[in-house]
Amino acid sequence: MGITGKTKVVGLFGYPVAHSFSPQMHNAAFRQLSLDYCYVPFPVNPDRICEAAAAVRALSLAGVNVTVPHKQGVIAYLDELSSEARLIGAVNTIVNKEGRLVGYNTDGQGFVRSLRTDAGFDPKGKSLILLGAGGAARGVAVQLALAGTRKITIVNRTPKKAEEIVQVINEHTQAEAEVLPWTAESLAPAVRAAAAVVNTTSLGMHPREEEAPPLETDLLVPGTLVADLVYNPVRTLFLQKAEAAGCQTLSGLGMLLHQGAIAFELWTGCTAPIQVMRDALTKELKN
Ligand code: ATR
Repeated sequence: MGITGKTKVVGLFGYPVAHSFSPQMHNAAFRQLSLDYCYVPFPVNPDRICEAAAAVRALSLAGVNVTVPHKQGVIAYLDELSSEARLIGAVNTIVNKEGRLVGYNTDGQGFVRSLRTDAGFDPKGKSLILLGAGGAARGVAVQLALAGTRKITIVNRTPKKAEEIVQVINEHTQAEAEVLPWTAESLAPAVRAAAAVVNTTSLGMHPREEEAPPLETDLLVPGTLVADLVYNPVRTLFLQKAEAAGCQTLSGLGMLLHQGAIAFELWTGCTAPIQVMRDALTKELKN
């Protein structure tokens, strides 16, 4: 890639950032479309996000992705928030609009786009179950609600966190949300009625690939869509069990890809070259 004085710089603020696949995914996309951009990971210490946000303006970066631990803390240093970022209370993408920093959250949008384009599943009017109530669950739940999901049931080891998400959805969106305890008795009817079940917990993520969320997969009705936000491994134990129970499955790789594609589109105004980005991610996951 030939970097010149005209090259626009985007990147990633997080801590750590060394494990991220986003540089490969975005730089492959810039090359494919011959866009004069480059994507650079920046390790930003937990207490230095204020200076990092100021540096976006000072260095005229075109924008950045934001990841753990800065997704919430960065909001205080932005000029404007998109409606979904405000509801989610977290930002994963910043666009520098002539010195004004605008925060977006493309994580949940990436999941919804993956549901539609990778699984052929439109959440509009449907009932979904989310396992887990952390930051990822919140982004996905809010975006599902904004996409017209009828009912969202959240199940979490720590019910209080699920209740907070449910409150946001019930107060600010048209969707109906509820918390259920994580027991087979209470889950059985909800799982039977759900069109999709989504694991948003980290259970099953590399290197603990032998773990899976504690949901008896014999509760699952064949044909139900089972999605995992975990993308490493691409086929988690949870997805393997769901497949064995006759369910359609969706890997978290699609959400990772599409959250990046939406950020790419916000920065460049160009349609993201999805296949090239998917190939770059797949190659990194095999390494
Ligand atoms: P992320 O931003 O990826 O969502 P997080 O905010 O730390 O990460 O949330 C992790 C989610 O995985 C939470 O729902 C967490 O449950 P608790 O809220 O009860 O902590 C869930 N999780 C992680 N390890 C778990 C385990 N061993 N059993 C059940 N749930 C687990």
